[in-house]
Amino acid sequence: MTLPSSEHAAGASGLVPPPGCPAHAATGPGGRTRLHGPLAETDPMGLYEELRAAHGPVAPVLLEGDVRAWLVLGYTENRDVATRSTQFSRDPRIWHGWTSGEIDAETSPLVPMIGWRPDCVNADGEEHQRLRGAVTASLDQFDHRGLRRHINRFAHELIDSFCEKGEAELVDRFTEQLPMLTLTHLLGMSEEGAPRLVHAARDLFKATETSLASNALVIESLEQIVRDKKRSPGHDIASALLAHPANLTDEEVMQHLRLVLLAGYETTANLMSNVLRMVVTDPRFRGSLAGGQMTLPEAVEQVLWDEPPLMVCPARFANGDTTLGGQHIKAGDMLLLGLAAGNVDETIRPDPATPVHHNRAHLSFSAGSHECPGQDIGRIIADTGIDILLTRLPDIVLAVPEERLTWRSSTWARHLTALPVSFAPRPPRGAQLPAPLPAPPPRTVGRPATAAPTETARAAGPAEPAAGSPVSAPSAGASGTVPAAGPGTAGRTEVRPRWWRRLGRLLRRR
Ligand code: HEM
Repeated sequence: MTLPSSEHAAGASGLVPPPGCPAHAATGPGGRTRLHGPLAETDPMGLYEELRAAHGPVAPVLLEGDVRAWLVLGYTENRDVATRSTQFSRDPRIWHGWTSGEIDAETSPLVPMIGWRPDCVNADGEEHQRLRGAVTASLDQFDHRGLRRHINRFAHELIDSFCEKGEAELVDRFTEQLPMLTLTHLLGMSEEGAPRLVHAARDLFKATETSLASNALVIESLEQIVRDKKRSPGHDIASALLAHPANLTDEEVMQHLRLVLLAGYETTANLMSNVLRMVVTDPRFRGSLAGGQMTLPEAVEQVLWDEPPLMVCPARFANGDTTLGGQHIKAGDMLLLGLAAGNVDETIRPDPATPVHHNRAHLSFSAGSHECPGQDIGRIIADTGIDILLTRLPDIVLAVPEERLTWRSSTWARHLTALPVSFAPRPPRGAQLPAPLPAPPPRTVGRPATAAPTETARAAGPAEPAAGSPVSAPSAGASGTVPAAGPGTAGRTEVRPRWWRRLGRLLRRR
């Protein structure tokens, strides 16, 4: 999923080119609307609504290189396409574009998204069941409590790395890091090798000039995991895929490790960024969270409805001529699931402002036989990570005007590029470990031993807010309601015994 992308500033903020501007023409051959370019990138939701008004629930569109496709906008039509797998195939080899010369398979930036690969995404029927069975078994082996424990540790370590500064850029330091750390761990990557893979995989997604080299490194690392796990299996996805009765070849195992990394990383990072952006920009959203009208998992669900991490899902191919949403679809035509458009279809959401956080019927994980098998893991990473962040830094506020937020966009997804926040500086959690038992009082006559209780109080660090209300109310200012560093933390520079410092380091590393 190396997505062609470009950067732009916030939302529908006047940056949309004026209608008819030839430099930004949104229509191409045949009067079809382009699903890429400035208009699609700055205001995709607006574009979907224009398409819906002009064509109904299924609209003809153009992808990069003016490749023709149908964008499914209706909620019911999206479900139809996703669930009628005999009519709408996931195998791109039946697409007529490969033979009609509509696409250059060597150079088109669409190939990473719609090209065939030997994985479950590109398979139908029995072959899909064989491959997907192995993937779901490898994901289901992780019990949620154990998973949360790992995410917990990664989240605290990440927060420890910036909490003393009183400011952080959360996309780079948190929302892109946590899913990658978790996924590389689940895949079976060793702790020593993980940072290299994390770095390469994040670069791969940014579609920079080093992306090709990063892709090669990701493949090489995953192949190495396969070799290692064949020798010494562990409790991880790679080992489970290798051991599964579906008898995946080494190449298939590697391809599915890559798929899990690609399918799980960017989507989960987007989800976390989108939730945190809502927390720091929307007082109503933050107020509902702080006031208990909406739990954090419900807030995540609301964002899944409103801003799906994958806005457009590639792709289905018609097995035969058919009609959908009033359009005549020909055998071999390409259809794209418009997940974001379907989620706000007025037939199911007459008023998009009405909260739907208690309802999980959105399309963000798609539907049917290919419905995301990692959705629980994605939700757990997002819930746990955000909960810990807001519990430790309940006073975070946006550090720049909202209009300065920027996105990297493509036909498929929008990624917030940065979320700078500020908060009252706090000591790292490692420094808040319980202090060692006080040393016995010195044998000096007539002097009370006051040092030990003070030391214990210092080690306890600043009070954390009560569980269940991790986030402070919207009115809280940057240095607002939460004490900056808690009583007694200022004197934390005292020299500790070497063994104590080593214990602290060890515990932080666990
Ligand atoms: C919030 C996070 C996530 C979102 C929004 C998301 C969304 C999606 C979507 C829309 C699909 C396409 C389904 C289709 O073609 O109809 C998909 C497929 C898939 N996802 Fe996720 N995903 C997320 C997290 C994850 C995670 C964490 C993992 C793995 C740990 C994962 C593994 C997969 C796999 C293996 C597939 C392919 C399934 C198949 O074709 O049978 N996803 N996901």
